[in-house]
Amino acid sequence: MDFEQLKQECLACRKCGLCETRTNVVFGTGPKTAEVMLIGEGPGKNEDEQGLPFVGRSGKLLDQYLTAVDLARNKNVFIANIVKCRPPENRDPLPEEWDACLPWLREQFRIIRPKIVVCLGRIAAQRLIRPDISVTKEHGVFEEKNGVWFMATLHPAALLRNPSQKPMAFGDFVALREKINEVCDHTY
Ligand code: URA
Repeated sequence: MDFEQLKQECLACRKCGLCETRTNVVFGTGPKTAEVMLIGEGPGKNEDEQGLPFVGRSGKLLDQYLTAVDLARNKNVFIANIVKCRPPENRDPLPEEWDACLPWLREQFRIIRPKIVVCLGRIAAQRLIRPDISVTKEHGVFEEKNGVWFMATLHPAALLRNPSQKPMAFGDFVALREKINEVCDHTY
């Protein structure tokens, strides 16, 4: 299956109950040749309305961090979420909703084949790195799994709630730039 086909199938997904309440599936955005993928938790209200990831306040903050290290959405990073549809009233997704959705992300990884995956926040980090990871303690640390480098950083929404953590997150993006210089061919 090629990427466009995957996207079309995902946009029509009815594998869990979230399809009944979503406005749009948030497939993710960026070039399919991206060497760096950023993975969040799931769409909020703005994302559901626009069908795009990280377009609300936390997305604006994320874009500032990306700009600071010469990354930009739709240029050299692919941004997606673990769960592609917004749960009603922003409740946490149910286990069966995670399980139904994760194969879409797996297919995105299979086609894009990123060299680096940055997990934005605890939910993505626990799913993709380790169930017992502590993002506040282990943020900015790269761990290699099957030839892909994984790193967790604080979720931008958490930074909006806790601005004192912003320097920590900035340090993670600086570390990301260094890792890109080390392992990527065409991101910069
Ligand atoms: N938070 C997320 O985890 N993902 C989005 O797309 C927006 C906010």
